[in-house]
Amino acid sequence: MALSIIILAAGQGTRMRSSIPKVLHKLAEKSLLEHVVQTASELAKDRIHVVYGHGGDQLKEELSDLKVNWVLQAEQLGTGHAVAQAMGPIPPEDLVLILYGDVPLISRDTLESLIKAGIKGGLGLLTVKMENPTGYGRIIRDAGGEVQRIVEQKDASDLELLVSEVNTGMMTVDCDKLAAWLNRLENNNAQGEFYLTDIIEMAVSDGNPVNTVMPASEIEVMGINDRVQLSEMERNYQLMQAHYLMQQGVTLKDPMRFDLRGDLTIGTDVTIDVNVILEGKVKIGNKVNIGANTTISNSSIDDDVTILQNCVIDNSQVGKASRIGPFTRLRPETVLKDHVHVGNFVEIKKTTVDTGSKISHLSYIGDAEVGKDVNIGAGTITCNYDGANKFKTVIGDRAFIGSDTQLVAPVKVGEGATLGAGTTLTHDAEPESLTISRSKQVKVNGWQRPTKKVKT
Ligand code: UD1
Ligand code: CA
Repeated sequence: MALSIIILAAGQGTRMRSSIPKVLHKLAEKSLLEHVVQTASELAKDRIHVVYGHGGDQLKEELSDLKVNWVLQAEQLGTGHAVAQAMGPIPPEDLVLILYGDVPLISRDTLESLIKAGIKGGLGLLTVKMENPTGYGRIIRDAGGEVQRIVEQKDASDLELLVSEVNTGMMTVDCDKLAAWLNRLENNNAQGEFYLTDIIEMAVSDGNPVNTVMPASEIEVMGINDRVQLSEMERNYQLMQAHYLMQQGVTLKDPMRFDLRGDLTIGTDVTIDVNVILEGKVKIGNKVNIGANTTISNSSIDDDVTILQNCVIDNSQVGKASRIGPFTRLRPETVLKDHVHVGNFVEIKKTTVDTGSKISHLSYIGDAEVGKDVNIGAGTITCNYDGANKFKTVIGDRAFIGSDTQLVAPVKVGEGATLGAGTTLTHDAEPESLTISRSKQVKVNGWQRPTKKVKT
């Protein structure tokens, strides 16, 4: 039996107090809806239907990469009405799984159990016991423990309100049966809505058992209605990721102060200090040490690299056994080969630095090619920009750049060349020779230091 998935996402999300639709708000830099679609597509590629309403154009535009069928629910007349909008293209023999765009952390494992519960010739229903069930639909069972129906908070009697087992809303149902039951829904209830939950009673009276499943953790079924819940969910999610990484062999100095907002590939024996943020696609090898307050975005860090505190690494590659920081900024298209040292207050942009080279202090290197075993002294600046165009600086292997040097690009420094401290290099420097541009030091004889006049 094939699986089709309907994701409900038409709600306005008034409590977010936002101009963007609720399901576009982000958890770990990925929209709530994308989290759900990603899990869904592990189970049913090409058969995912998203019911949208508010902010539809914005939704479809921002999430145009998602391979889903977008279904408009022009008016939000209830969850049953929402599901009905999506039924058209679903083959009658399919099993339908219903999910929610604002419940982002539902796990594949739980959904697989729910699918099994649906295949057992009945309806699979995901329920959870809550200490405070207020607001949720309650699961009403008979004396034998069989599910009879679901009653919404606003329609429940005082006795029913005492029930702590609640409806998560997620369920699996045979498509043909679902279609028939949806047709019979009425909206004569406290909210005047077509409740999806009313199909439970119909299923039971038609002789279909309701098989319930519970999630491994309550977090999986938690929905997001406001920004407080969003922030709580973010911390929960971050902690889940942190625990997973620790189980994979990563040492986190404090899992509460670690943020992964993207996709990470990581080796073993990596140690990460507090307040490290990893964003986008990040690849980290084995035995890497990352110091506190460092942000790494869309970059790869090879084995045995040490990154000291307070570095910002963006769209760059760092080769084996290199040492970065503290306070280093690697801007996009920086490639450091192996055993490179980059020190404090160094900014590098669109530059390749070859094996064994050192840029240890207070420098700006942009649009450059730096050879092997080069030593760049403190305060070196590539003047790569004339106010209109960018130019390249090429530094050959084994060059030694004295401190406080300006390389006015386009310019080349030959292999093994030495530039004296303070040089402003405007023409290429010859290989294996000393180039220096510096006003000559003079001694002024008889000079006297001024003294303060004494008032009389
Ligand atoms: C619903 C369930 C309730 C359950 C709870 C879990 C019903 C009648 N009730 O209640 O039993 O405990 O979820 O959170 O199903 N939506 C649409 N179109 C609509 C209405 C809703 O797409 O016309 C979407 C919303 O965007 C939301 C979801 O369906 O993602 C749930 O809707 P909501 O109105 O929040 O239902 P609840 O009253 O919370
Ligand atoms: Ca809700």
